[in-house]
Amino acid sequence: MSRTYHLTTFGCQMNEHDSERMAGMLDQLGYRRVDARDDADVILFNTCSIRESADNRFIGHLGEAKRLKKEHPDRVIGVGGCWSQSLKDEVFERFPFVDVAFGPGQIPKLAEYLLSDSLSAQMGYFDFESVSGSLPMRREREFQAWMQISQGCNCVCAYCIVPSTRGRGMSRPAAELVAEAERLAADGVKEVTLLGQNVNSYGRDLRPRVAFSELLAMIDAVTGIERIRYTSPHPKDMREDVIRAHAELPSLCEHIHLPLQSGSSKLLKRMRRTYTRERYLDRVAMIRDLVPDCGLTTDIIVGFPGETDEDFEQTLSLADEVEYDGAFTFAFSPRRGTEAATPPDQVPHEVKIARLQRVVEVIQRRAHERAQRFVGRTLEVLVEGESRTDPTRVRGRTT
Ligand code: SAH
Ligand code: SF4
Ligand code: F3S
Repeated sequence: MSRTYHLTTFGCQMNEHDSERMAGMLDQLGYRRVDARDDADVILFNTCSIRESADNRFIGHLGEAKRLKKEHPDRVIGVGGCWSQSLKDEVFERFPFVDVAFGPGQIPKLAEYLLSDSLSAQMGYFDFESVSGSLPMRREREFQAWMQISQGCNCVCAYCIVPSTRGRGMSRPAAELVAEAERLAADGVKEVTLLGQNVNSYGRDLRPRVAFSELLAMIDAVTGIERIRYTSPHPKDMREDVIRAHAELPSLCEHIHLPLQSGSSKLLKRMRRTYTRERYLDRVAMIRDLVPDCGLTTDIIVGFPGETDEDFEQTLSLADEVEYDGAFTFAFSPRRGTEAATPPDQVPHEVKIARLQRVVEVIQRRAHERAQRFVGRTLEVLVEGESRTDPTRVRGRTT
């Protein structure tokens, strides 16, 4: 009988994509995926560490893995992803029942480990290597695919753990990406989402350089790919050519996720975001001007160290002015090893929660108002599955 595995994924789209690659690799090794952890010979976690709540969620699951390992000591417990990378070898000290631990850049090492004779020794793999674009993957949906266009991040946002878990930014060659898009299209994929920590800085490290807007045009030209999305761009690198591409390229969706973080220039500076409130609003104005119908979403952090009521009011007023279609809103969470974890002027928990509620209220009210522009119009939707609340209906997205 074939050996079995169970895989749980936490975190962002990049992790979901990494999990597809873990699954593809395990399929190739002859492993079979099972839905219950109890039935698995290999129990895997692909972890996230972006906020403390992400750590805690995962550690809850790890308790069950410990129990299952005790029942069957020959079970393999594997922990990959950003949490694993951020703790490295400490993982084995704190959680001695873990057999193999690896960072986001070391997925192929999982196969190496499973094929080795020394399954009884604990192994950790944490080097940063170049993107392994050639890994097999098992897509979650037939008609949608992720494409990783770069890895790592060269920014130094003061709150963020990602540069330390995913390493320096590195772009994959454009020709390799076009070939991947062609393969995906031939395999029935209609919508691709380009992934990177900072997608619109794509190609600056390539020789010759390739602009992100050029990559978009190349993928737009691939027959069969009807929709292109990408996440996440950085406002500092959001240039006119990329915004224009949304108006000009038929398959590029009319949606931009433009992470704001704060509406206060003072705080943006402390966060090391390298743009100001004015510059951000200027990008938004250009989007509204060139692509009037464009959906606009964002990420906002409240309670960053030193955030005063006045700073927070600026975030509120910006959210009110921009009229986002949606936002991910977060209470600042100090992360190990980051610059913002140590300053003494941390914002009290209750203040963060109160601010979160206020910003969510503004976002939702504005999003609801802005959504009215679609009432009465007929739009093309790519159906993604059943409605989460009513199985007699389907759910999908417009462009
Ligand atoms: N590379 C992407 C995604 C970063 S993580 C980008 O730059 O947009 C996604 C979001 O999590 C960030 O945009 C930020 O809003 C939030 N985030 C990151 N670190 C955080 C922290 N320590 N506390 C609270 N929110 C955080
Ligand atoms: Fe983190 Fe900033 Fe890089 Fe995004 S751009 S991954 S928030 S350091
Ligand atoms: Fe993603 Fe979480 Fe890592 S958001 S990049 S899996 S820390």
